[in-house]
Amino acid sequence: MIQTEREQELLTAGKALEASLVAVRRELHRHPELSLKEARTAALVAERLTELGLPVQTNVGGYGVVAELAGGRPGPTVALRADMDALPIEEETGLPFASEHPGVMHACGHDAHTAMLLGAAELLTARRDELAGTVRFLFQAAEEVNAGAKGMIADGALEGVSEIYGLHNLPTLAAGKVATRYGSLMGSVDRIELTLEGKGGHGAIPDQSIDPVVSASAIVMALQTAASREISPFDPVVVTIGSLRAGEANNVIPHRAELTGTVRTFSPRVQAGMKERLERIVTETAAAYRCHADFRYIEQNPVLVSHDLCVQHVEETADRLLGAENRVEAAPTMAGEDFAVYLTQIPGAFFWLGSGPEENAEQAYGLHHPKFDVNETCLPTGASLLAAIAASRLEALGGRN
Ligand code: NI
Repeated sequence: MIQTEREQELLTAGKALEASLVAVRRELHRHPELSLKEARTAALVAERLTELGLPVQTNVGGYGVVAELAGGRPGPTVALRADMDALPIEEETGLPFASEHPGVMHACGHDAHTAMLLGAAELLTARRDELAGTVRFLFQAAEEVNAGAKGMIADGALEGVSEIYGLHNLPTLAAGKVATRYGSLMGSVDRIELTLEGKGGHGAIPDQSIDPVVSASAIVMALQTAASREISPFDPVVVTIGSLRAGEANNVIPHRAELTGTVRTFSPRVQAGMKERLERIVTETAAAYRCHADFRYIEQNPVLVSHDLCVQHVEETADRLLGAENRVEAAPTMAGEDFAVYLTQIPGAFFWLGSGPEENAEQAYGLHHPKFDVNETCLPTGASLLAAIAASRLEALGGRN
């Protein structure tokens, strides 16, 4: 009961921050920065955290910012993470605070995530005496290019951390709701690149050439059998060739073809076998057509697998804070999220926070859409929820020591 009362108070205090969180989010929205270029955003974040009196570390894993709040009571460390980067998209929302940077837009709501985590830091700082341990705030750069989490880990951001939590807004879920899921939530992301060398020549004399276009065509078709013939239909896999370039003229057999693609899976076991599988299909199909294949398989993101105990903790906290009627089961998605990398190192959980309109949210513009927007009432909700997750988890972990 006492816990519930304290959390309800956190919700009220979060609500009182709404205007300032909206202002921060709009300021960031006006000035979106691409991955690996988040200097201005990082400076704003560092300034706000310094104002709260927290020790701040900058340039962690690129432009990442880390702050630490030591509670009034001893205990372990729990991390909360937000991402800060924007996308190369031309904004079409027409909002008064729309992007002032042509071709760059916060179309994934990382501006909202950053504002929420700043809000959580403010809420927890005001209650530091009650905290049974330390909360580390990770403001991560370069999520969209799958580089930021790895960089932060390399720079020691997880050292001494027991568990990590994070959220992503979801415009097709009404603000005020959360969506959780045990186990895999988001897919792995790997990139493939393929260069096929043949022998160019006259389009009318194919017998004196080695045609990489025919070889490439066969490979694109053969790759589909990796999913359909080699993997259980109960294990989802996507192999998409997104670009195929070869030749300039209609009557010339080109020397070379270049292909790139993306590979998604929903289980670490399946992901682990994809490189061998695709490489075999590519090189042997190429050989059948007398081409030489140079195949590169680049692992970008693991499957995002939350830890059961941590999911349970998020669900229980969300139910106390927002009511069980506002929690739904998340649908799995093959979209990637580099929070997955943290979860390969330490336990934690990732969940969706509704950021859509209260009515007909499922019709809202999705993530990465030029007209994407968030319902800003989700900002205080996210701030309070993140704060409550960290505070109550420290209590539970400390209680176990
Ligand atoms: Ni995102």
